[in-house]
Amino acid sequence: MQRGAAVPGIVSLRRRLFLVGMGALAIAAAAGTQDAAAESGASLPEPYASADLRRGRILFLQCVACHDLEPSGIAKVGPSLAGLPGRPAGSVAAFAYSTAMRESGLTWTAGTLDAFIERPSAVVAGTTMVFAGIAAPADRAAMVRYVFEESAKAR
Ligand code: HEC
Repeated sequence: MQRGAAVPGIVSLRRRLFLVGMGALAIAAAAGTQDAAAESGASLPEPYASADLRRGRILFLQCVACHDLEPSGIAKVGPSLAGLPGRPAGSVAAFAYSTAMRESGLTWTAGTLDAFIERPSAVVAGTTMVFAGIAAPADRAAMVRYVFEESAKAR
Protein backbone atom coordinates (compact mmCIF):
# COMPACT_ATOMS: atom_id res chain seq x y z
CA MET A 1 0.00 0.00 0.00
CA GLN A 2 2.86 2.31 0.81
CA ARG A 3 4.28 1.94 -2.73
CA GLY A 4 0.88 2.38 -4.29
CA ALA A 5 0.49 5.65 -2.48
CA ALA A 6 3.96 6.84 -3.53
CA VAL A 7 3.37 6.42 -7.27
CA PRO A 8 0.86 9.23 -7.74
CA GLY A 9 3.24 11.49 -5.82
CA ILE A 10 6.09 10.71 -8.22
CA VAL A 11 3.87 11.17 -11.24
CA SER A 12 2.69 14.54 -10.09
CA LEU A 13 6.26 15.58 -9.27
CA ARG A 14 7.31 14.62 -12.81
CA ARG A 15 4.37 16.53 -14.18
CA ARG A 16 5.30 19.54 -12.12
CA LEU A 17 8.88 19.40 -13.38
CA PHE A 18 7.56 19.11 -16.91
CA LEU A 19 5.39 22.20 -16.42
CA VAL A 20 8.30 24.12 -14.91
CA GLY A 21 10.38 23.10 -17.93
CA MET A 22 7.72 24.30 -20.33
CA GLY A 23 7.42 27.55 -18.41
CA ALA A 24 11.17 28.12 -18.66
CA LEU A 25 11.02 27.44 -22.39
CA ALA A 26 8.18 29.91 -22.80
CA ILE A 27 10.12 32.58 -20.89
CA ALA A 28 13.25 31.89 -22.95
CA ALA A 29 11.22 32.17 -26.15
CA ALA A 30 9.64 35.45 -25.04
CA ALA A 31 13.05 36.87 -24.08
CA GLY A 32 14.38 35.87 -27.49
CA THR A 33 11.57 37.77 -29.17
CA GLN A 34 12.27 40.86 -27.10
CA ASP A 35 15.96 40.76 -27.96
CA ALA A 36 15.14 40.50 -31.63
CA ALA A 37 12.75 43.45 -31.40
CA ALA A 38 15.26 45.58 -29.51
CA GLU A 39 18.00 44.79 -32.00
CA SER A 40 15.97 45.07 -35.14
CA GLY A 41 16.00 48.79 -35.92
CA ALA A 42 13.86 47.81 -38.90
CA SER A 43 15.88 44.55 -39.07
CA LEU A 44 19.32 45.84 -39.90
CA PRO A 45 21.72 43.42 -41.57
CA GLU A 46 25.23 42.78 -40.27
CA PRO A 47 27.61 44.40 -39.53
CA TYR A 48 25.14 47.09 -38.46
CA ALA A 49 22.78 45.00 -36.30
CA SER A 50 25.49 44.22 -33.76
CA ALA A 51 27.54 47.42 -34.12
CA ASP A 52 28.36 49.48 -31.02
CA LEU A 53 25.26 51.58 -30.39
CA ARG A 54 26.89 53.74 -27.68
CA ARG A 55 29.74 54.58 -29.99
CA GLY A 56 27.20 55.43 -32.67
CA ARG A 57 25.49 57.87 -30.32
CA ILE A 58 28.80 59.59 -29.60
CA LEU A 59 29.73 59.73 -33.27
CA PHE A 60 26.36 61.24 -34.11
CA LEU A 61 27.48 64.34 -32.20
CA GLN A 62 29.35 65.16 -35.42
CA CYS A 63 26.02 65.40 -37.22
CA VAL A 64 23.86 67.28 -34.72
CA ALA A 65 25.17 70.69 -35.68
CA CYS A 66 23.36 70.18 -38.96
CA HIS A 67 20.77 67.42 -38.42
CA ASP A 68 18.25 66.31 -35.86
CA LEU A 69 16.04 63.25 -35.63
CA GLU A 70 12.78 65.00 -34.82
CA PRO A 71 9.82 64.05 -37.04
CA SER A 72 8.66 67.63 -37.54
CA GLY A 73 12.15 68.97 -36.92
CA ILE A 74 12.85 72.44 -38.19
CA ALA A 75 15.44 71.94 -40.88
CA LYS A 76 18.80 72.99 -39.52
CA VAL A 77 21.69 73.29 -41.95
CA GLY A 78 20.65 69.85 -43.15
CA PRO A 79 17.26 68.07 -43.29
CA SER A 80 15.79 66.12 -40.37
CA LEU A 81 16.86 62.48 -40.47
CA ALA A 82 13.57 61.25 -38.94
CA GLY A 83 12.19 58.24 -40.79
CA LEU A 84 15.40 57.89 -42.81
CA PRO A 85 15.34 54.08 -43.34
CA GLY A 86 13.81 53.48 -46.76
CA ARG A 87 13.42 57.19 -47.52
CA PRO A 88 14.36 58.36 -51.02
CA ALA A 89 17.26 60.82 -50.92
CA GLY A 90 16.29 64.46 -51.19
CA SER A 91 12.64 63.93 -50.26
CA VAL A 92 11.97 66.20 -47.24
CA ALA A 93 9.63 68.72 -48.83
CA ALA A 94 10.58 71.61 -46.56
CA PHE A 95 14.29 71.32 -47.29
CA ALA A 96 16.12 72.97 -50.18
CA TYR A 97 18.41 70.18 -51.35
CA SER A 98 21.11 70.43 -53.95
CA THR A 99 20.11 69.22 -57.41
CA ALA A 100 22.76 66.53 -56.97
CA MET A 101 20.98 65.10 -53.92
CA ARG A 102 17.49 65.37 -55.40
CA GLU A 103 18.58 63.62 -58.58
CA SER A 104 20.89 61.06 -56.97
CA GLY A 105 18.33 58.27 -57.25
CA LEU A 106 19.49 56.94 -53.86
CA THR A 107 17.25 55.35 -51.27
CA TRP A 108 18.56 55.40 -47.70
CA THR A 109 19.45 51.89 -46.60
CA ALA A 110 22.17 50.89 -44.14
CA GLY A 111 24.44 50.28 -47.13
CA THR A 112 23.86 53.58 -48.94
CA LEU A 113 24.17 55.58 -45.71
CA ASP A 114 27.40 53.75 -44.88
CA ALA A 115 28.88 54.59 -48.30
CA PHE A 116 27.66 58.21 -48.16
CA ILE A 117 29.13 58.79 -44.68
CA GLU A 118 32.49 57.43 -45.76
CA ARG A 119 32.81 60.25 -48.28
CA PRO A 120 29.66 62.24 -49.06
CA SER A 121 31.06 64.00 -52.10
CA ALA A 122 32.22 60.72 -53.67
CA VAL A 123 28.72 59.21 -53.51
CA VAL A 124 26.73 62.34 -54.34
CA ALA A 125 29.05 64.52 -56.41
CA GLY A 126 28.02 68.12 -55.86
CA THR A 127 26.27 67.60 -52.51
CA THR A 128 26.11 70.64 -50.28
CA MET A 129 26.75 68.49 -47.20
CA VAL A 130 30.16 69.61 -46.06
CA PHE A 131 31.50 66.65 -44.15
CA ALA A 132 34.86 64.99 -44.63
CA GLY A 133 33.61 61.49 -43.85
CA ILE A 134 34.23 58.73 -41.31
CA ALA A 135 37.09 56.45 -42.35
CA ALA A 136 36.81 53.47 -39.97
CA PRO A 137 34.27 50.85 -41.09
CA ALA A 138 33.38 49.93 -37.48
CA ASP A 139 32.67 53.59 -36.72
CA ARG A 140 30.43 53.89 -39.77
CA ALA A 141 28.58 50.71 -38.78
CA ALA A 142 28.01 52.12 -35.28
CA MET A 143 26.82 55.42 -36.72
CA VAL A 144 24.46 53.70 -39.17
CA ARG A 145 22.96 51.57 -36.39
CA TYR A 146 22.39 54.58 -34.18
CA VAL A 147 20.90 56.73 -36.95
CA PHE A 148 18.66 53.94 -38.24
CA GLU A 149 17.35 52.86 -34.85
CA GLU A 150 16.73 56.42 -33.67
CA SER A 151 15.30 57.71 -36.93
CA ALA A 152 12.97 54.71 -37.26
CA LYS A 153 11.59 55.50 -33.77
CA ALA A 154 10.94 59.07 -34.82
CA ARG A 155 8.99 58.09 -37.93
C1 HEC B 1 27.96 70.93 -41.88
C2 HEC B 1 26.62 70.44 -41.84
C3 HEC B 1 26.40 68.94 -41.94
C4 HEC B 1 26.99 67.94 -41.20
C5 HEC B 1 28.05 68.08 -40.12
C6 HEC B 1 26.35 66.71 -41.61
N1 HEC B 1 25.44 66.95 -42.59
FE1 HEC B 1 24.27 65.57 -43.51
N2 HEC B 1 23.53 67.01 -44.74
C7 HEC B 1 23.84 68.36 -44.68
C8 HEC B 1 23.22 69.06 -45.80
C9 HEC B 1 23.32 70.54 -46.11
C10 HEC B 1 22.50 68.07 -46.51
C11 HEC B 1 21.76 68.25 -47.81
C12 HEC B 1 22.76 67.93 -48.89
C13 HEC B 1 22.32 68.20 -50.31
O1 HEC B 1 21.18 68.63 -50.55
O2 HEC B 1 23.16 67.96 -51.21
C14 HEC B 1 22.72 66.80 -45.82
C15 HEC B 1 22.16 65.59 -46.20
C16 HEC B 1 22.28 64.43 -45.50
C17 HEC B 1 21.60 63.21 -45.82
C18 HEC B 1 20.58 63.01 -46.93
C19 HEC B 1 19.20 63.30 -46.32
C20 HEC B 1 18.06 63.18 -47.27
O3 HEC B 1 16.96 63.64 -46.88
O4 HEC B 1 18.19 62.68 -48.38
C21 HEC B 1 21.95 62.27 -44.89
C22 HEC B 1 21.48 60.85 -44.80
C23 HEC B 1 22.90 62.92 -44.01
N3 HEC B 1 23.07 64.21 -44.40
C24 HEC B 1 23.47 62.30 -42.92
C25 HEC B 1 24.45 62.89 -42.13
C26 HEC B 1 25.13 62.22 -41.04
C27 HEC B 1 24.83 60.80 -40.58
C28 HEC B 1 26.02 63.10 -40.54
C29 HEC B 1 27.04 62.89 -39.44
C30 HEC B 1 28.02 61.84 -39.69
C31 HEC B 1 25.91 64.33 -41.29
N4 HEC B 1 24.94 64.17 -42.23
C32 HEC B 1 26.65 65.48 -41.07
C33 HEC B 1 24.64 68.95 -43.74
C34 HEC B 1 25.43 68.30 -42.83
